[in-house]
Amino acid sequence: MDVRSPPLARAGVYRRHVKASLARIWENVFDWEHLPSLHARDFAACTLIESGAWGWRVRLVNQPGDETKAQILELHADRRAHRYCVTTLEGPGAGSEIRVQLAPTAPRETDVTVEFHVHEAAPARLDAIGRRYVEVYERLWDEDEAMMIARERALARRRKARGATATPVRLGGVDDVRARLPVMAVFGGQRFRIVEIDGDMVAHAVTCPHWLGPLEDAPVVAGAVTCPWHGYAFDVRTGACVSGQALRLAPAPQVVVEDGVVVLAAGA
Ligand code: FES
Ligand SMILES: [Fe+2]
Repeated sequence: MDVRSPPLARAGVYRRHVKASLARIWENVFDWEHLPSLHARDFAACTLIESGAWGWRVRLVNQPGDETKAQILELHADRRAHRYCVTTLEGPGAGSEIRVQLAPTAPRETDVTVEFHVHEAAPARLDAIGRRYVEVYERLWDEDEAMMIARERALARRRKARGATATPVRLGGVDDVRARLPVMAVFGGQRFRIVEIDGDMVAHAVTCPHWLGPLEDAPVVAGAVTCPWHGYAFDVRTGACVSGQALRLAPAPQVVVEDGVVVLAAGA
Protein backbone atom coordinates (compact mmCIF):
# COMPACT_ATOMS: atom_id res chain seq x y z
CA MET A 1 0.00 0.00 0.00
CA ASP A 2 1.25 3.47 -0.90
CA VAL A 3 1.88 5.59 2.22
CA ARG A 4 -0.07 8.40 0.49
CA SER A 5 -3.16 6.18 0.14
CA PRO A 6 -6.33 7.51 1.76
CA PRO A 7 -7.28 5.89 5.06
CA LEU A 8 -9.44 2.77 5.13
CA ALA A 9 -13.11 3.47 4.48
CA ARG A 10 -16.07 1.09 4.49
CA ALA A 11 -17.14 0.46 0.90
CA GLY A 12 -20.07 -1.82 1.65
CA VAL A 13 -21.65 -4.48 3.86
CA TYR A 14 -23.03 -7.91 3.00
CA ARG A 15 -25.40 -9.61 5.44
CA ARG A 16 -26.55 -13.19 5.19
CA HIS A 17 -28.35 -15.83 7.22
CA VAL A 18 -26.47 -19.09 6.65
CA LYS A 19 -27.99 -22.51 7.34
CA ALA A 20 -24.79 -23.92 8.80
CA SER A 21 -23.31 -24.26 12.26
CA LEU A 22 -20.43 -22.19 13.53
CA ALA A 23 -18.29 -25.34 13.41
CA ARG A 24 -18.97 -25.80 9.67
CA ILE A 25 -18.27 -22.13 9.01
CA TRP A 26 -14.93 -22.12 10.87
CA GLU A 27 -13.98 -25.27 8.99
CA ASN A 28 -14.76 -23.47 5.75
CA VAL A 29 -12.94 -20.28 6.77
CA PHE A 30 -9.71 -22.14 7.54
CA ASP A 31 -10.05 -24.19 4.36
CA TRP A 32 -8.04 -21.98 1.97
CA GLU A 33 -7.64 -24.95 -0.37
CA HIS A 34 -11.22 -24.83 -1.66
CA LEU A 35 -10.85 -21.36 -3.16
CA PRO A 36 -9.82 -22.23 -6.76
CA SER A 37 -12.03 -25.34 -6.95
CA LEU A 38 -15.32 -24.47 -5.29
CA HIS A 39 -14.97 -20.82 -6.38
CA ALA A 40 -13.47 -21.57 -9.80
CA ARG A 41 -15.30 -18.62 -11.35
CA ASP A 42 -13.54 -16.15 -9.05
CA PHE A 43 -10.15 -17.73 -8.30
CA ALA A 44 -7.71 -19.57 -10.55
CA ALA A 45 -5.00 -20.79 -8.18
CA CYS A 46 -4.13 -20.66 -4.51
CA THR A 47 -0.83 -21.58 -2.85
CA LEU A 48 -0.34 -21.78 0.89
CA ILE A 49 2.48 -19.70 2.34
CA GLU A 50 1.83 -20.26 6.04
CA SER A 51 -0.96 -21.42 8.31
CA GLY A 52 -1.68 -22.08 11.96
CA ALA A 53 -4.32 -21.77 14.64
CA TRP A 54 -4.21 -18.02 13.95
CA GLY A 55 -5.32 -18.36 10.30
CA TRP A 56 -3.47 -18.52 6.99
CA ARG A 57 -1.49 -16.57 4.42
CA VAL A 58 -1.84 -17.53 0.75
CA ARG A 59 -0.89 -16.42 -2.72
CA LEU A 60 -4.06 -16.14 -4.77
CA VAL A 61 -4.32 -15.77 -8.54
CA ASN A 62 -7.67 -14.50 -9.77
CA GLN A 63 -7.33 -14.95 -13.53
CA PRO A 64 -5.77 -18.12 -15.00
CA GLY A 65 -2.23 -17.34 -16.14
CA ASP A 66 -2.42 -13.67 -15.11
CA GLU A 67 0.30 -13.42 -12.50
CA THR A 68 0.09 -9.62 -12.53
CA LYS A 69 -3.16 -9.93 -10.57
CA ALA A 70 -1.73 -12.26 -7.93
CA GLN A 71 -2.45 -11.22 -4.35
CA ILE A 72 -1.00 -12.17 -1.00
CA LEU A 73 -3.91 -12.56 1.41
CA GLU A 74 -3.77 -13.12 5.15
CA LEU A 75 -6.64 -14.34 7.27
CA HIS A 76 -6.64 -13.80 11.02
CA ALA A 77 -9.29 -15.49 13.12
CA ASP A 78 -10.57 -14.54 16.54
CA ARG A 79 -12.63 -17.62 17.35
CA ARG A 80 -13.68 -16.42 20.78
CA ALA A 81 -15.16 -13.25 19.36
CA HIS A 82 -16.59 -15.18 16.37
CA ARG A 83 -14.87 -12.96 13.86
CA TYR A 84 -12.10 -12.95 11.30
CA CYS A 85 -10.39 -10.51 8.98
CA VAL A 86 -8.82 -11.05 5.56
CA THR A 87 -6.17 -8.47 4.65
CA THR A 88 -4.69 -8.03 1.19
CA LEU A 89 -0.97 -7.70 1.89
CA GLU A 90 0.23 -7.41 -1.73
CA GLY A 91 -1.25 -7.08 -5.20
CA PRO A 92 -4.44 -5.38 -6.40
CA GLY A 93 -6.33 -3.84 -3.49
CA ALA A 94 -3.30 -4.00 -1.16
CA GLY A 95 -4.20 -2.80 2.31
CA SER A 96 -7.92 -3.59 2.00
CA GLU A 97 -9.61 -5.56 4.76
CA ILE A 98 -12.63 -7.82 4.75
CA ARG A 99 -14.00 -8.04 8.29
CA VAL A 100 -16.46 -10.80 9.06
CA GLN A 101 -18.60 -11.18 12.16
CA LEU A 102 -20.40 -14.45 12.86
CA ALA A 103 -23.42 -14.74 15.15
CA PRO A 104 -24.93 -18.20 15.74
CA THR A 105 -28.72 -18.01 15.99
CA ALA A 106 -29.53 -21.75 16.23
CA PRO A 107 -27.48 -25.01 16.30
CA ARG A 108 -27.20 -24.98 12.50
CA GLU A 109 -27.87 -21.35 11.66
CA THR A 110 -25.57 -18.37 11.70
CA ASP A 111 -25.90 -14.71 10.84
CA VAL A 112 -22.92 -13.43 8.88
CA THR A 113 -21.95 -9.77 8.42
CA VAL A 114 -19.15 -8.97 6.00
CA GLU A 115 -17.69 -5.45 5.84
CA PHE A 116 -15.42 -4.33 2.99
CA HIS A 117 -12.82 -1.71 3.94
CA VAL A 118 -10.62 -0.18 1.23
CA HIS A 119 -8.23 2.71 0.75
CA GLU A 120 -10.50 4.93 -1.29
CA ALA A 121 -11.81 8.42 -0.61
CA ALA A 122 -14.06 9.25 -3.58
CA PRO A 123 -17.67 8.39 -2.55
CA ALA A 124 -18.76 7.26 -6.04
CA ARG A 125 -15.73 5.01 -6.41
CA LEU A 126 -16.19 3.67 -2.88
CA ASP A 127 -19.81 2.85 -3.64
CA ALA A 128 -18.89 1.05 -6.89
CA ILE A 129 -16.23 -1.01 -5.10
CA GLY A 130 -18.74 -1.90 -2.38
CA ARG A 131 -21.35 -3.06 -4.89
CA ARG A 132 -18.80 -5.19 -6.70
CA TYR A 133 -17.68 -6.80 -3.44
CA VAL A 134 -21.27 -7.56 -2.42
CA GLU A 135 -21.96 -9.18 -5.82
CA VAL A 136 -18.88 -11.41 -5.53
CA TYR A 137 -19.47 -12.26 -1.87
CA GLU A 138 -23.07 -13.24 -2.50
CA ARG A 139 -21.81 -15.79 -5.04
CA LEU A 140 -18.98 -17.02 -2.77
CA TRP A 141 -21.37 -17.51 0.16
CA ASP A 142 -23.91 -19.27 -2.11
CA GLU A 143 -21.17 -21.76 -2.97
CA ASP A 144 -19.85 -22.01 0.59
CA GLU A 145 -23.29 -22.50 2.12
CA ALA A 146 -24.15 -25.24 -0.40
CA MET A 147 -20.88 -26.98 0.46
CA MET A 148 -21.42 -26.71 4.22
CA ILE A 149 -24.98 -28.06 3.99
CA ALA A 150 -23.85 -30.92 1.73
CA ARG A 151 -21.00 -31.76 4.11
CA GLU A 152 -23.35 -31.83 7.09
CA ARG A 153 -25.62 -34.24 5.20
CA ALA A 154 -22.67 -36.38 4.13
CA LEU A 155 -21.44 -36.61 7.73
CA ALA A 156 -24.93 -37.74 8.82
CA ARG A 157 -25.04 -40.32 6.01
CA ARG A 158 -21.66 -41.66 7.05
CA ARG A 159 -22.77 -42.06 10.67
CA LYS A 160 -25.90 -43.88 9.52
CA ALA A 161 -23.97 -46.19 7.18
CA ARG A 162 -21.74 -47.54 9.96
CA GLY A 163 -22.39 -51.22 10.51
CA ALA A 164 -24.52 -51.64 7.37
CA THR A 165 -24.13 -55.05 5.75
CA ALA A 166 -23.28 -55.50 2.10
CA THR A 167 -25.69 -57.80 0.32
CA PRO A 168 -25.86 -58.14 -3.50
CA VAL A 169 -27.99 -55.53 -5.27
CA ARG A 170 -29.79 -56.37 -8.53
CA LEU A 171 -29.92 -53.37 -10.84
CA GLY A 172 -31.93 -54.81 -13.76
CA GLY A 173 -31.39 -56.30 -17.20
CA VAL A 174 -28.10 -55.55 -18.96
CA ASP A 175 -29.61 -53.58 -21.85
CA ASP A 176 -31.89 -51.62 -19.54
CA VAL A 177 -29.06 -50.70 -17.14
CA ARG A 178 -26.72 -49.77 -20.01
CA ALA A 179 -29.39 -47.48 -21.42
CA ARG A 180 -29.78 -45.74 -18.06
CA LEU A 181 -26.09 -45.18 -17.30
CA PRO A 182 -24.80 -43.52 -15.22
CA VAL A 183 -26.84 -45.27 -12.54
CA MET A 184 -26.76 -44.61 -8.79
CA ALA A 185 -27.12 -47.45 -6.27
CA VAL A 186 -26.72 -48.06 -2.55
CA PHE A 187 -24.53 -51.01 -1.54
CA GLY A 188 -23.62 -51.79 2.08
CA GLY A 189 -25.06 -48.45 3.19
CA GLN A 190 -22.84 -46.46 0.81
CA ARG A 191 -23.72 -44.72 -2.46
CA PHE A 192 -22.05 -45.74 -5.70
CA ARG A 193 -22.32 -44.67 -9.32
CA ILE A 194 -22.13 -47.16 -12.15
CA VAL A 195 -20.51 -45.78 -15.28
CA GLU A 196 -19.24 -47.27 -18.51
CA ILE A 197 -15.51 -47.20 -19.20
CA ASP A 198 -14.09 -48.77 -22.35
CA GLY A 199 -17.22 -50.89 -22.67
CA ASP A 200 -17.13 -52.13 -19.04
CA MET A 201 -19.61 -51.19 -16.36
CA VAL A 202 -17.68 -49.96 -13.33
CA ALA A 203 -18.92 -48.88 -9.89
CA HIS A 204 -17.21 -46.12 -7.92
CA ALA A 205 -17.86 -44.44 -4.58
CA VAL A 206 -19.48 -41.02 -4.94
CA THR A 207 -18.26 -39.64 -1.61
CA CYS A 208 -14.85 -38.03 -1.74
CA PRO A 209 -12.53 -39.49 0.93
CA HIS A 210 -11.16 -36.01 1.71
CA TRP A 211 -14.09 -33.98 3.12
CA LEU A 212 -16.92 -36.13 1.76
CA GLY A 213 -17.41 -33.97 -1.32
CA PRO A 214 -19.97 -35.08 -3.92
CA LEU A 215 -18.68 -37.07 -6.90
CA GLU A 216 -22.03 -38.24 -8.29
CA ASP A 217 -22.16 -35.49 -10.92
CA ALA A 218 -18.43 -35.29 -11.62
CA PRO A 219 -17.70 -36.04 -15.28
CA VAL A 220 -15.45 -39.03 -15.93
CA VAL A 221 -12.46 -37.70 -17.85
CA ALA A 222 -9.71 -40.10 -18.92
CA GLY A 223 -11.05 -42.61 -16.40
CA ALA A 224 -10.96 -40.21 -13.44
CA VAL A 225 -13.35 -37.98 -11.51
CA THR A 226 -12.41 -34.67 -9.94
CA CYS A 227 -14.03 -33.52 -6.71
CA PRO A 228 -15.62 -30.07 -7.03
CA TRP A 229 -14.65 -28.99 -3.49
CA HIS A 230 -10.83 -29.12 -3.54
CA GLY A 231 -10.00 -30.58 -6.92
CA TYR A 232 -8.63 -33.96 -5.83
CA ALA A 233 -8.97 -36.53 -8.62
CA PHE A 234 -9.52 -40.29 -8.43
CA ASP A 235 -9.19 -43.17 -10.86
CA VAL A 236 -12.69 -44.62 -11.20
CA ARG A 237 -11.54 -48.21 -11.75
CA THR A 238 -8.98 -48.46 -8.94
CA GLY A 239 -10.08 -45.68 -6.58
CA ALA A 240 -6.48 -44.43 -6.46
CA CYS A 241 -5.91 -40.71 -6.09
CA VAL A 242 -4.32 -39.33 -9.27
CA SER A 243 -3.79 -35.77 -8.02
CA GLY A 244 -1.09 -36.64 -5.49
CA GLN A 245 -2.89 -36.90 -2.15
CA ALA A 246 -2.58 -39.96 0.10
CA LEU A 247 -6.24 -40.91 -0.25
CA ARG A 248 -8.34 -43.37 -2.18
CA LEU A 249 -12.00 -43.92 -2.89
CA ALA A 250 -13.89 -46.38 -0.69
CA PRO A 251 -13.73 -49.89 -2.15
CA ALA A 252 -16.49 -50.33 -4.73
CA PRO A 253 -18.55 -53.45 -5.37
CA GLN A 254 -17.97 -55.45 -8.51
CA VAL A 255 -20.45 -55.08 -11.34
CA VAL A 256 -21.26 -58.60 -12.53
CA VAL A 257 -23.85 -60.01 -14.90
CA GLU A 258 -25.80 -63.04 -13.68
CA ASP A 259 -28.32 -64.57 -16.06
CA GLY A 260 -28.61 -61.29 -17.96
CA VAL A 261 -29.10 -59.23 -14.78
CA VAL A 262 -26.60 -56.62 -13.59
CA VAL A 263 -25.69 -57.22 -9.95
CA LEU A 264 -23.50 -55.32 -7.52
CA ALA A 265 -21.56 -57.84 -5.50
CA ALA A 266 -18.82 -57.62 -2.87
CA GLY A 267 -15.43 -56.97 -4.47
CA ALA A 268 -12.85 -59.71 -4.82
S1 FES B 1 -13.82 -33.02 -0.43
FE1 FES B 1 -11.88 -32.16 -0.74
S2 FES B 1 -11.29 -32.87 -2.67
FE2 FES B 1 -13.17 -33.81 -2.29
FE1 LIG C 1 -15.38 -20.19 0.24
